[in-house]
Amino acid sequence: MTETKSKKLLILYATQTGNAMDVAERIGREAERRGCPASLLSVDEYDASLLPLEDIVVFVVSTTGQGDPPDSMKVFWRFLLQRNLNQHWLEGLHYTVFGLGDSGYQKYNFVAKKLDKRLSDLGAQAIVERGLGDDQHPSGYEGALDPWLSSLWRMLHQMNPESFPDGSDYVKSDKTILDLPKVQIRHHAADEVNLQYSVGSGLSCTEIEIEKARCMSPGRFSGRQTRPDCFLKLVKNHCLTKAGCGKDVRHLEFNFESSVRCLNIPFKEF
Ligand SMILES: Cc1cc2nc3c(=O)[nH]c(=O)nc-3n(C[C@H](O)[C@H](O)[C@H](O)COP(=O)(O)O)c2cc1C
Repeated sequence: MTETKSKKLLILYATQTGNAMDVAERIGREAERRGCPASLLSVDEYDASLLPLEDIVVFVVSTTGQGDPPDSMKVFWRFLLQRNLNQHWLEGLHYTVFGLGDSGYQKYNFVAKKLDKRLSDLGAQAIVERGLGDDQHPSGYEGALDPWLSSLWRMLHQMNPESFPDGSDYVKSDKTILDLPKVQIRHHAADEVNLQYSVGSGLSCTEIEIEKARCMSPGRFSGRQTRPDCFLKLVKNHCLTKAGCGKDVRHLEFNFESSVRCLNIPFKEF
């Protein structure tokens, strides 16, 4: 008996100011809530020569400058433009593109349009028509994203029913998926920091304080990280709820003091 192999879903994004990453993360979350496992990567973390080995890739790319790709996409794009890649190179790859742009620019969503054309020229097969998010839309890029996502889930379910055990519209209300925090904040009281380092200013002083915070908080923050990402100073802590109401909801504000970048930890570990 032949077993139907469930197809892998990969989401690749290229962003300049963060919107494409937000969209890619939303797609990843929605896939997971439908029971469809997905991998999510920035294009600069991905080896483009592996594309022919993928089953389904969802690209989320923004346009910056005057119709230019984000910095993180430049190497990937140069690779795709190589002349030695022929029209069969991506045969077998299924893909779709969601672009983020602004129709106020002459080269509206240029990168998404060019990427879509190049992938198709290399033999890849589009599974749904590309979506184009527009900053000028009254709902922003989400005006185009929502209907595009509905078509995407419908098509993926059709192509790959094994990955959507309960149908394309079924969404798990699993709290562990909905509530996964992006960051974890651990509080260190000011008087725990050695006074000899808390006077003065400048980078070296902050670095010492970060090290101090790490010593106090050696716990793991994620699969790969073993130390805190950055050091924040709590500058506001207002209680928003009435005393005795049974709830304690707070408005917290932080100043970004420094990050591990100053300590030569690669940015992608953030
Ligand atoms: C400096 C700058 C240049 C931009 N150039 C273009 C452009 O040429 N074409 C376009 O469609 N959108 C352009 N945009 C709009 C962005 O693509 C849009 O804001 C998008 O949501 C940004 O996504 P990102 O945060 O993932 O980079 C530009 C935005 C900025 C800030």
